[in-house]
Amino acid sequence: MDPTITPLDASFGAVITGIDLAGLDDAGWHIVEDAFHEYAALVFPAQNLGDEAQVAFAKRFGNIELLRDDPKAEAVLISNEKPDGGVVEPDEHRYQTLRGNEGWHTDSSYMPLASKAAMLTALVVPPAGGETELADMRDAYDALDDERKDRIRDLSAYHSLYQSQAKVGYTIKTGAGYGYHTKGAPLRPLVKTHPATGRKSLFIGRHAYRIPGLEDGEAQALLDDLLDFACRPPRTYKHAWQPGDLVVWDNRCVLHRARPYDYGETRVMRHTRVAGDPANDLAPTARDERASGYEPTTSNR
Ligand code: OGA
Ligand code: MN
Repeated sequence: MDPTITPLDASFGAVITGIDLAGLDDAGWHIVEDAFHEYAALVFPAQNLGDEAQVAFAKRFGNIELLRDDPKAEAVLISNEKPDGGVVEPDEHRYQTLRGNEGWHTDSSYMPLASKAAMLTALVVPPAGGETELADMRDAYDALDDERKDRIRDLSAYHSLYQSQAKVGYTIKTGAGYGYHTKGAPLRPLVKTHPATGRKSLFIGRHAYRIPGLEDGEAQALLDDLLDFACRPPRTYKHAWQPGDLVVWDNRCVLHRARPYDYGETRVMRHTRVAGDPANDLAPTARDERASGYEPTTSNR
């Protein structure tokens, strides 16, 4: 059976059926990769991939970015459930991370090397809410008027997890988010060019917080305005999960956020993050750091 690609009712995104991601051959991968470049987000219903199959599929896109300093952490659970069966509480770091994910973002933009792509498989889905929403930053850039395009052309913003969590009332005390808060956050252009398609997109989201040359209040107002304009129809798609669905998005040109749900209900997602390409996704401010020995944490293909 040949794969069927059905565009979403939005400026981006497509659903692909008639393909078995666990048994993907090179011809199938080329179809997926072309669709990924064209649509920037792909929905694969009812794949039911296991850990290893998900990681193998992710490695088609590039090296895996490890979310913990643990080579086994190629696929991690994004879950509000605790090992004892209870659910996370508001004063816990994991709860605060989940709440943070409810703000529009692109993964790892606060790290020296931003992510290329990410995927989720739904394992346990709450009865209401808990969707994942995506927004197309290519169309957002294209839709800006010339005046706004001119205004942002040469601007860059710092990206910081410490700052994005602070904006929603949480204080990070450990980990990479804290590390780059003390060492200095990466600075990234507001306009990013896609290496495969040449299309420009807005590179913004909750982690962006300060713009050299602008007063901080003015910078935040500009970032808020851009985000508000960008994350609207026809540039958004909200995926209502069925267990077994897999969704993959291009972190270079798509923002995403989790939608709220009753944290008394369980939600378990399996996440795999694909590392950026240093030639394209390393913050300009991190190049010096790299020259002095910094290496991004990734597992090999
Ligand atoms: C993530 C993320 C969104 C979701 O895992 O990086 O943002 O819907 N997840 O769980
Ligand atoms: Mn995310």
